[in-house]
Amino acid sequence: MIVTNTVKQTKEQIKKWQKAGKSIGFVPTMGYLHEGHQSLIQESIAHNDITVVSIFVNPTQFGANEDLDKYPRDFAADSSLCQEAGVDLIFHPEPDAMYPPGFCSLVDITRLKYSLCGKSRPDHFQGVCTVVAKLFNIVNPDRAYFGQKDAQQLTIIKQMAKDLDFDIEIVGCQIIREADGLAKSSRNSYLTPQQREQATILNKALVQAQSHARSGFTDIAGLKEEMIATINTMPLADIDYVEIVDSKTLEPVMEFNDDILIALAVRFGATRLIDNTTIPFKQEEK
Ligand code: PAJ
Repeated sequence: MIVTNTVKQTKEQIKKWQKAGKSIGFVPTMGYLHEGHQSLIQESIAHNDITVVSIFVNPTQFGANEDLDKYPRDFAADSSLCQEAGVDLIFHPEPDAMYPPGFCSLVDITRLKYSLCGKSRPDHFQGVCTVVAKLFNIVNPDRAYFGQKDAQQLTIIKQMAKDLDFDIEIVGCQIIREADGLAKSSRNSYLTPQQREQATILNKALVQAQSHARSGFTDIAGLKEEMIATINTMPLADIDYVEIVDSKTLEPVMEFNDDILIALAVRFGATRLIDNTTIPFKQEEK
């Protein structure tokens, strides 16, 4: 497995593989890898000759009062996970390699970023689009793998790739959960044992909403109220949002159509967790 830190090294190595006719799969991450990331890596390995993983805690997608400095990092553990999984190259740049002095270009999106997480994180998706566009140009993959866990990010990246003519297939992968249903996240490591226990309510609220919707319950406002009440049974849960939206436009819906996303963000102390599910039960949620 090769580890690169500069854009130049990375491009040179990937060009060699492409000249030899190899297909490239790409998994962008911020590290502190867990089974969610691992499932994306496995998908890439299964469908491409070469798999590239980037590990970069991207400063431009963190707000001023967010957790950039304390975001968990463990390159040694990440590197062994990648090695064991069969990754061919890790791109692990320092911020200066991605944003050298004088850097002043941004990639932004004018729709899709205002709802859900965009409401409380107004600059987040501009940071995500900028870094992902740069990474796409550096790695030039055939396919790139993103988790449905970050449903809004996946929708935005698909739109950005289409709008900016990236010739890259964006592959969405199912949410990987802990045994008790909590979606795996690098940020779960921040939770105290008590917060961790109460955080299981998020998946329970989603499963409950989904089962009601599937049994013919069509009152969207009622469903949302019920989810809020369920989450609020946990004293440490502080709801940022619970939304029922069209999974393509990410705008709130008044009635069920066949492409609904139920998404939520809830704080436990300073830790903000997100989760979601789709209705009807989609392939990605199996
Ligand atoms: P990060 O949070 O490290 O996530 C990297 C990828 O792993 C994302 O596509 C995310 O959706 C996916 N992922 C995380 N938890 C998952 C889970 N439980 N199940 C399935 N997939 C999961 O998302 C980012 O980094 C960054 O915004 C990035 C795209 C790398 C840009 O900086």
